[in-house]
Amino acid sequence: MSVLIGCPAETEPRENRVALTPDVAARLHRAGLDVIVGSGAGRGAWFHDEEYVAAGARIGTGEEVYAQADVVVVIHPPADRTLLRAGQLLIGLLEPLLTAGDLADTKVTALSFDGLPRTLSRAQSMDVLTSQANVAGYKAAVLAADTFGGFFPMLMTAAGTVRPAKVLVLGGGVAGLQAIGTARRLGALVTGYDVRAAARSDIASTGASVLDLGGVSASGQGGYARALTAEEQADQQRAMIAAIGAFDIVITTAQVPGHRPPELVPAAALAAMAPGSVVVDLAAGPLGGNVAGSTPDGRHVTANGITVLGAGNLPAQVPRAASAAWARNVAALLDHLIHDGSVVLDRGDEITAGLLVCQDGQVVQPKETLS
Ligand code: NAI
Repeated sequence: MSVLIGCPAETEPRENRVALTPDVAARLHRAGLDVIVGSGAGRGAWFHDEEYVAAGARIGTGEEVYAQADVVVVIHPPADRTLLRAGQLLIGLLEPLLTAGDLADTKVTALSFDGLPRTLSRAQSMDVLTSQANVAGYKAAVLAADTFGGFFPMLMTAAGTVRPAKVLVLGGGVAGLQAIGTARRLGALVTGYDVRAAARSDIASTGASVLDLGGVSASGQGGYARALTAEEQADQQRAMIAAIGAFDIVITTAQVPGHRPPELVPAAALAAMAPGSVVVDLAAGPLGGNVAGSTPDGRHVTANGITVLGAGNLPAQVPRAASAAWARNVAALLDHLIHDGSVVLDRGDEITAGLLVCQDGQVVQPKETLS
């Protein structure tokens, strides 16, 4: 009997992505797997039911997907956990710190991409954090350009020359490097900054300038930054207040795993910017962001005329490309897990061990990557 892969519609508000695209459904079908897709699941990304059917998939209701599928692939953890079945495999970005107990209670086996060992080269094709951060970085630069009251490129016109916009990107990880590349392609003069020396080299290799904020250097484990001490953060903020006035646009992307995002742009730094400047905070979330006063999906203008955009779920605003990348990541993971028509979960395998949140009603101890 073949493994049935199910993809229900996402239920989060404003989520337009879908975890399987028709292309990938066709690829799974060719590999001998069966696929069932929730009716309308791809609509937000302009993938129609007929395309899934043409790819060899069946269309069902959301309930049918959960009731029948051996493997359910999602983006967010399903809101209605009663739909999950004991023994079913659930794959998504499942926010295990919040959901692990609930998921274990349903006796599903849950794999969450949060725990993927990202620096392992054979895991890179499965890395939704990277694929979606790329989309978010791109969209952040486009959003900044759209909101800014001026041009990004230098323009020479009969009425005179317009100087290019000056863009500062804080955090040179995956999203930051994509924001830098996109802003440069739009013609802006781009500067980047990161606390990790390796990320500063990555920024320089794009051709962008690297901002020097003094001595702070904070590489942590696994290619991530460590949290700064209170003193280091105060030094960083002071240096930022002195430097930030030179920029028209600031895009912030700094994260430290397991910690609330560091505040890189305090209120005094916003006050030091010129009216009309735009700040996009990609790190804005329920625990705060990199910019004073930013909230997810929030937009406000400060007393001195700075527009602050707290980016929420930016990949959902580029749903076709984001879903295409997500679905390819899912297909790579399924390739890894399914052998000769059955799912093999080898807990000795580094990838499976990293992803596993719960099995047989038991929460697998949260690992450092999940904390
Ligand atoms: P992230 O989203 O956790 O953080 C973004 C950036 O913010 C990081 O570069 C971090 O150094 C920076 N940051 C943190 N605190 C800061 C502060 N106070 N001031 C300025 N910058 C600050 O990181 P992301 O994008 O998920 O990946 C980070 C790194 O992980 C990559 O650069 C790479 O080294 C590693 N990685 C490796 C992969 C691979 O080998 N395939 C795949 C993905 C990530």
